[in-house]
Amino acid sequence: MTNKNNNKKTFCSFLYSNYLTRVLSYINMQIQKNVSLKPYNTFGVDVSCNQLICVDREDEIPYLFQEKVFDTRFFILGGGSNVLFTQNYDGNIVHMRTKGIDIVKETENEVFIKVAAGELWDDFVDFCIRHAYYGIENLIGIPSLVGSSPVQNIGAYGVELKDVMHSVEGIYVGNNKPFVLNNADCEFAYRSSVFKKALKNKCLVTQVLFRLSKIKQFTLTYKALRDELPYDDADLNLQKVAQAVLKVRNSKLPDVRKIGSAGSFFKNPVIPKSRFVTLIDKYPSLIHFDTDNGEVKLAAGQLVEIAGWKGKRLNDAGVYPLQALVIVNYGNAGGKELLDLSMEIQKDVFERFEIQLEPEVNIMF
Ligand code: EPU
Repeated sequence: MTNKNNNKKTFCSFLYSNYLTRVLSYINMQIQKNVSLKPYNTFGVDVSCNQLICVDREDEIPYLFQEKVFDTRFFILGGGSNVLFTQNYDGNIVHMRTKGIDIVKETENEVFIKVAAGELWDDFVDFCIRHAYYGIENLIGIPSLVGSSPVQNIGAYGVELKDVMHSVEGIYVGNNKPFVLNNADCEFAYRSSVFKKALKNKCLVTQVLFRLSKIKQFTLTYKALRDELPYDDADLNLQKVAQAVLKVRNSKLPDVRKIGSAGSFFKNPVIPKSRFVTLIDKYPSLIHFDTDNGEVKLAAGQLVEIAGWKGKRLNDAGVYPLQALVIVNYGNAGGKELLDLSMEIQKDVFERFEIQLEPEVNIMF
């Protein structure tokens, strides 16, 4: 009898402590009202939002549903490195800050690493370089969070996220149900995925599972990167490749801690071959790459440069002098000013080439 009572007591105190932990985690969860988003977007645009909700632990997520955070206008913000706020955001901003890098499986040749959505992308790259896991060294220096990396299918110097991602875990915000999507389910394409299409604004990514190599191998197809590595392949290592990537990046892209930007503002346009044939006649120096499906990809930066915009500045909004694809905020440019500049560029490029540049950056109205 006493034993039974004790068991009952233990069970009740277990329930109570569980309940208490949940209540306390709700209390701990950071919710700020009418807060500036300036520190949360790499353009450094000073706009506010109604509520900023920072999620530090996955067990805080139920609270988002309890508080009906997703029932009004909301936006899930990652590193803020691919977004342009054009005005105050009339809604809830959810910002993941969950941490964790865990090796979940290892074979002789491969390692599977599960990473929490709120980890800084570069911290994960650093982890892989230190542990000699190959595959994401070319993606060093990208100012993203791990959770946003599959949304955008981040890419640089011949590597894209889709080459190293196994699966994504998260919660459907519409019904609070968990999901796991494999690489193929994510419909990855150039700077795109299912999360920007059918599942746009429908998923909260919580974890990303990566599949990396333990065997030494590098992707050195990008010429400027290869030129920075004048070694025999046997002398290459992850540190040398990562340093070379950073050197190439820094020679073209601004450091977002010093100059506001969101990397490439536009996508590189893809046009039909027939259209390209007439264009190259008029502009023989056009940089171009054949795509797998017989179309031609052009370098948007070159089009913007030919249109005369490289290095131009209108008040604090400008075009980066070293890479015409990058729009920068030299200080206090507002989102609307940056947007107006991008539209001027689009207009000029269209008038000259009849090509409509598509923003890569997520523009928020
Ligand atoms: N170019 C010019 N003028 C310019 C800029 C570029 O002529 O002002 C020429 C370059 O000389 C080069 C070509 O255009 O021959 C391509 O330029 P670059 O190699 O700098 O790459 P990109 O196509 O402009 C893309 C990604 C970058 C990524 C680099 C390297 C897109 C939209 N951007 O830029 O990603 O770092 O390749 O792989 O695909 C980002 O997504 O935010 C980003 C920075």
